[in-house]
Amino acid sequence: MTTGLIHLHSLLRWVILILLLVSIYYSLVKSEKIKSTGLWLMITSHVMLLIGLYQTIAGRYGWMNVPEGTSVMKDGFYRFYLVEHPVMMITSVVLITLARRKAKDLNYRSVKTLLLIALVLILAAVPWPFRDAAIARPWFPGM
Ligand code: HEM
Repeated sequence: MTTGLIHLHSLLRWVILILLLVSIYYSLVKSEKIKSTGLWLMITSHVMLLIGLYQTIAGRYGWMNVPEGTSVMKDGFYRFYLVEHPVMMITSVVLITLARRKAKDLNYRSVKTLLLIALVLILAAVPWPFRDAAIARPWFPGM
């Protein structure tokens, strides 16, 4: 199950990135379609949040399985996966949720600002293959 969840978490990143780009585009051209893409974006990001919370707490590198004597904040790997990545991603899920609320009122300016900040945070917090070897992960699941 653990591998399946990691694969799903890895794959959904692309769904979120595509929905984010499409939603930002709709907020720029002021299309009412922002309501439906915003909803799907919120649903997908909340699924990511649930999987991520599980991984952070009980996953293979989760808080419950950190080897004894490890200082999470001093270890680049654990600091990234148990602190930096979750904090930045939870913040972006909050922003996406706020954007969904603004999209319902067709407040395009607020949607655009919130989603752009979420996009920057997500791009910065994904463990891309070109990141530090210790944290780098593949472009697609199972690669
Ligand atoms: C938009 C939201 C998110 C994106 C795009 C994202 C993306 C990713 C990616 C690409 C990986 C590497 C997967 C692989 O090994 O191929 C990963 C791993 C991980 N993510 Fe996220 N994530 C998001 C949200 C979260 C949240 C909210 C949390 C925690 C609350 C979280 C916790 C983790 C953990 C703990 C891992 C490491 C899992 C392991 O290797 O055992 N993620 N994430």
